Amino acid sequence: MVAKTEPIPVVLLDSGTAAVVASTIRSAIPPALDGSECVNRSQEEVQVLSRAVASATSGRFPEALDRLALTLIGSPHSVVLRGLDVSGCGPATLAVTAARLGAPFVEPDPAHGAISLLRPRTDRSMAGQVLNELLHTDSTDRVVPNRLSCLLCVVPDVGGQGVSRVMSITAARAVALGSLGVSGVERLGRPHPWRSGSSPTGVTWAPVFNHRRGSIRWMRNTIVQASDDRLVKLSAGLEHELKVFERALEASGAWSEVLLGPGDVLVLDNRRCLHSRSPISRAVSSDRVLLRTKRR
Ligand SMILES: [Fe+2]
Repeated sequence: MVAKTEPIPVVLLDSGTAAVVASTIRSAIPPALDGSECVNRSQEEVQVLSRAVASATSGRFPEALDRLALTLIGSPHSVVLRGLDVSGCGPATLAVTAARLGAPFVEPDPAHGAISLLRPRTDRSMAGQVLNELLHTDSTDRVVPNRLSCLLCVVPDVGGQGVSRVMSITAARAVALGSLGVSGVERLGRPHPWRSGSSPTGVTWAPVFNHRRGSIRWMRNTIVQASDDRLVKLSAGLEHELKVFERALEASGAWSEVLLGPGDVLVLDNRRCLHSRSPISRAVSSDRVLLRTKRR
């Protein structure tokens, strides 16, 4: 068992600033039906809105976001922005928040847009396992994954389930060392095949741990998919090693936890930490709603 990592830092927005952010956004756009639809805004519209919010808050909102970006540099490379009032304006508030943190990431499907609606009942599963319940990085099926993932909680699970988990790359490396040894960590630093719709060959090659860049890429399923689709042949040894690493990560308990409340935005450095959520027993009926945007 690896020691638990440090708590996820919180950047708290004062109530006066939060109220001005919300009123500025609500007066500029028609209210969105949070939880029932996801409204994507054009980049131009988001930029105009961001400037209006910056001006109305006398720079306090962008300052809070700059503080957040600085905090993200340190372990566990994730931060919660707390205090936003997002009722009726969730998608636009997330768009304005994320706009300060990076450029939008292009999803494979243009219809996907910049903001996605996440509900437990539509989470992807493989072999009976909900993929979001396993520690992973986002967009492992892209040649270059996104740099930041921003998750806004609109409605939490009523039973208090679906706790967000974050594991820093340092803790993940320690788990790899403990479960696979020095040679295993070295092997995870070699290129692995990832099933990729954005690669002309259907596969992109990249290490799990990029030791030179200090980055991590992880979702075992994406490597297995490359083999299942007969694009590569995985050796039995590699398949076994990946399973051992996955089990060791999930058994380690070496993650930080946060139960997101309404208006909380969890910002993750997708190159330097893994994330997942705890299981939700009644996923089909859970009213949990998150909005997500990915940034380059
Ligand atoms: Fe994710």
